[in-house]
Amino acid sequence: MAIQVRPPQRDEMHAYYRALPFANGLPQWEPAAAAWHGGPEPWPPQRTPATAEQLEEWAEADVKDETFHPIATFADGACVGASAAISFDVTVPGGGTVKVAGVTSTGVIATHRRHGYLRRMMQAMFDAALDRGEPLAMLSASEGSIYGRFGFSPATFRARWELDRNDAALLPAAPDPGSLELVDAAQASQSWPVVHAQVRVQRPGELTPLPGRWDSLSDNADGTKGPLRYLAHRDEHGEVDGIANFRLPWSSTAANAGTLVVEALEATNPTAYRALWSLLVDFDLTRTIVAPGRPRDEPLRWMLANPRAMRITRQSDNMWARLLDIPRALTQRSYDTVGEVVFTIDDDHMCPANNGTWLLRAGDTSVTCVATDQQADATITISALSSLYLGGMSAQNLAYAGRITAHADDVVARLNRLFRVDPEPHNSFGF
Ligand SMILES: CC(C)(COP(=O)(O)OP(=O)(O)OC[C@H]1O[C@@H](n2cnc3c(N)ncnc32)[C@H](O)[C@@H]1OP(=O)(O)O)[C@@H](O)C(=O)NCCC(=O)NCCS
Repeated sequence: MAIQVRPPQRDEMHAYYRALPFANGLPQWEPAAAAWHGGPEPWPPQRTPATAEQLEEWAEADVKDETFHPIATFADGACVGASAAISFDVTVPGGGTVKVAGVTSTGVIATHRRHGYLRRMMQAMFDAALDRGEPLAMLSASEGSIYGRFGFSPATFRARWELDRNDAALLPAAPDPGSLELVDAAQASQSWPVVHAQVRVQRPGELTPLPGRWDSLSDNADGTKGPLRYLAHRDEHGEVDGIANFRLPWSSTAANAGTLVVEALEATNPTAYRALWSLLVDFDLTRTIVAPGRPRDEPLRWMLANPRAMRITRQSDNMWARLLDIPRALTQRSYDTVGEVVFTIDDDHMCPANNGTWLLRAGDTSVTCVATDQQADATITISALSSLYLGGMSAQNLAYAGRITAHADDVVARLNRLFRVDPEPHNSFGF
């Protein structure tokens, strides 16, 4: 069989989509009851195969999109596997951004799985990302057991929590000089990018929104989920500094009735954050507040008179990271403390230039990461270093797991001091 791994041509785009689960109405995610949504509907939602018109629409849009880099596997000329990398930026510790190859929409048709085609497409995407100067790849993993072997490892996390309204009293706080306003979809889609642009420089892990990110906001009812509703907060000068999307889904079961689902909430400052939540957790004629996809270190918990009332009902990894170019990536983030560490990477079979011993030095004003012949303080797997990169992973845990091998007594503490950040990295949305 003749195998080719290459980007599809324009006239091969329909065949390319047909290799992808989502275009065929097939499952894309591991099934998880009441996972990330708040309503009574099963997850993942039902899908139907795309029509030829839809495929054509996607193809028209994708070939014009310079950030979209599709890759396909052809077996004897037939497209049997597909994936893509999308170019965007992620906020790194210190507030700067790093270019990312975001791996998405991956599938190999059922008859051709476990022949190594994903591995070959992944290698091609890594090589192309390095050529474009992207030192980092990221993805959200449909299943947790697939992507570690390619060097990916969890880097951001998310939690779904629930709160009973009658247990949601907030501790007293200074009066809010600003105001709250229910806005429509048109106003929300203007305010979201403004708020997110300010939020994302404050938090590692946040992504630059892809074009059209807020185009789908609408006031139309979405089945039993009801319409999306929008709550904005304005500061004392009238500028929007926080916004939330929420729903009041209809439910046929008494147990699920009276649920308010907060699908997204971002605020540029604690006053706006508190004001938005204070209305949403005490919304008349509701009983339970559900928030999926939230940071694990949600400050709302510490605003509650009863912090235990917020129940985490699911917690999971969110974005997985994979360093493609170690010196470039490590010198593009900053470090809160002055320090240095010498580490060896010896397991990177896909980006061999990463293998070697590196001296990372975080100085007062600059960061360097250079190859060295000094003795290493630690040997770190490429996936463990990728997990440390955004600052959300404990080096101690990785050392316990055998993914960091210490050669110097204090190296794990030093890695933690250098890499970890507060607040921990989080991305409010994916790609
Ligand atoms: C997941 C999928 C893309 C893998 O493609 P593939 O071409 O079969 O994968 P490969 O043959 O290149 O396998 C590469 C490695 O991953 C492993 N692997 C592949 N699919 C796996 C799975 N679902 N679970 C665990 N391991 C898996 C293989 O065993 C192989 O391991 P090795 O190299 O260490 O021996 C394909 O099976 C598929 O399309 N599945 C359904 C849709 C899906 O899950 N898509 C991904 C999410 S968007």
